[in-house]
Amino acid sequence: MTTLRDKAWEVVCEHVQDTGLRRHMLAVGAAMGWYAAQLGEDVDYWEAVGIIHDFDWEIHPDLDRHPTAGAPILRARGWDEELIRTVLSHYEAGTGVPREKPIDFALLACDEITGLLIASALVRPSKDIREMAIKSVKKKWKVRAFAAGVDRDHVIDVTEDFSQQCFDGTLDLWTHINNVLTAMQADAARLDLDGALAK
Ligand SMILES: [Fe+2]
Ligand SMILES: [Fe+2]
Repeated sequence: MTTLRDKAWEVVCEHVQDTGLRRHMLAVGAAMGWYAAQLGEDVDYWEAVGIIHDFDWEIHPDLDRHPTAGAPILRARGWDEELIRTVLSHYEAGTGVPREKPIDFALLACDEITGLLIASALVRPSKDIREMAIKSVKKKWKVRAFAAGVDRDHVIDVTEDFSQQCFDGTLDLWTHINNVLTAMQADAARLDLDGALAK
């Protein structure tokens, strides 16, 4: 049976050739699936949203177009409006679509932090995220020049929003980052972060 996740991945493979961007979307998908399971939500659907959210970044690599210009492409292919709305909500400043639902808050909270985790895994000689401890991520977090594109203050803000919306304010930053790491470790092979790149 073709899952929604598979369909999302097909759309990504068609529009994205860059390995790093593909890995980013798989990582967000893994984190979304992990949180869906935690929250009793639809794992396949949440994972699909994570995987597809930046599908148009390679064809629209600027925030004037991404993700707004991607929406009609998804619409023409029959993706439902709810999924498209969630994708648009990950950049409210450009789309005017605010986060409303748990899945919207989860998406933004899982988005940028995967960048720090991927970068941290890739500087390890083993290139294996499964042996990476949260302690080493904390060290990298403090070095602002490391994975400088990951806006730490933004991560703090969107994690706080996610915590308020879905965890009654009890999800702290490092628990969240550890959760995303756990999800990515479980999906290490698919992310090519299982040591394959060290060979
Ligand atoms: Fe994006
Ligand atoms: Fe993203």
